[in-house]
Amino acid sequence: MAKRSGITISRQIMDSQRLHPEATGDLTGLLSELIVAAKIISAEVNMAGLADILGQSGSTNIQGEVVQKLDEFANATIKRRMEQCGYICIMASEEDDGVIPVLEGYEGKYALAFDPLDGSSNIDVNVSIGTIFSIHRKRSAGASGDESDLLQKGADQVAAGYIIYGSSTMLVYTTGEGVHGFTLDPSVGEFFLSHPDIRIPERARYYSVNEAYTNYWFEPTRRYIDYLKEIDPDSGRPYSLRYIGSLVADFHRNLISGGIFLYPRDSKSTDKPDGKLRLLYEAAPMAMIVREAGGLAITDDGRDILEIEPAGLHQRVPLIIGSRADVETARRFLTG
Ligand code: AHG
Ligand code: MN
Ligand code: MN
Repeated sequence: MAKRSGITISRQIMDSQRLHPEATGDLTGLLSELIVAAKIISAEVNMAGLADILGQSGSTNIQGEVVQKLDEFANATIKRRMEQCGYICIMASEEDDGVIPVLEGYEGKYALAFDPLDGSSNIDVNVSIGTIFSIHRKRSAGASGDESDLLQKGADQVAAGYIIYGSSTMLVYTTGEGVHGFTLDPSVGEFFLSHPDIRIPERARYYSVNEAYTNYWFEPTRRYIDYLKEIDPDSGRPYSLRYIGSLVADFHRNLISGGIFLYPRDSKSTDKPDGKLRLLYEAAPMAMIVREAGGLAITDDGRDILEIEPAGLHQRVPLIIGSRADVETARRFLTG
């Protein structure tokens, strides 16, 4: 059960900035802006069931704006907040084809990639959804930044995190010094430290995969999942299956309780030759978080997710992520 520590997320970020005398405060500022966006999205998500009711009077909400679909709302909220925050030079969103520039005169030294609303299929049915973000340092020469600032490998991220809109709203992030989880107290509008220094259990209790696709998988993937179902009281197998269909929610549960999540590539269908999940917005940020928590993320041919050099903004990648011992076992099955 999470305890309220009284440490707000702003204080935690400021404290960790103090450990780095060379820091300018820009990353702190960037994270603070993202936190505001998260609170706005969280408030909207909590109202989702009322959207039609509120929208009846000409489809405008309380601010007089047209009621938007939640994923468009989340995307627009993050873009609007970040384009003139002054801390980033360029953005990319899972919902937009190309790079998203920031306003002239507001160019900063970081690049931001995000999945504004992850688990869209769960929006209308009151199941947990999330937002994922990934931050790199700008490396291009010009002020305005370009695609190369976003096409950097996961190992070079300076921060990554997600917000989960679940039974409570939580923000989990890392800047390379452990993984910390904060729970939103909606009555005061603050995130409080509830899960300091999260460590993912070495061994999984759960496996998470869309098993309906078994017939599309390669044989080694099938063998590995069959192995998880074998009875072995010593190792705790068979594991339990949990699959929500929102990466953020499936990942979060596995991070806290121990688990392995898989979205492998298909052998037969041609529409998912590289799986479904996107390297920049989903796989790489989760891989940084899991590494910082003591876990591991690989592709289904055994490569480290954090070492992949992205070739395109919307590149997909097969993802196996979670408890270290289990991901290592999966690697042996899949590459052996
Ligand atoms: P998004 O809603 O951002 O497009 O992502 C959905 C993703 C991910 O959250 C989840 O793990 C996966 O889709 C589920 O896909 P299947 O329905 O194919 O299992
Ligand atoms: Mn997603
Ligand atoms: Mn999405």
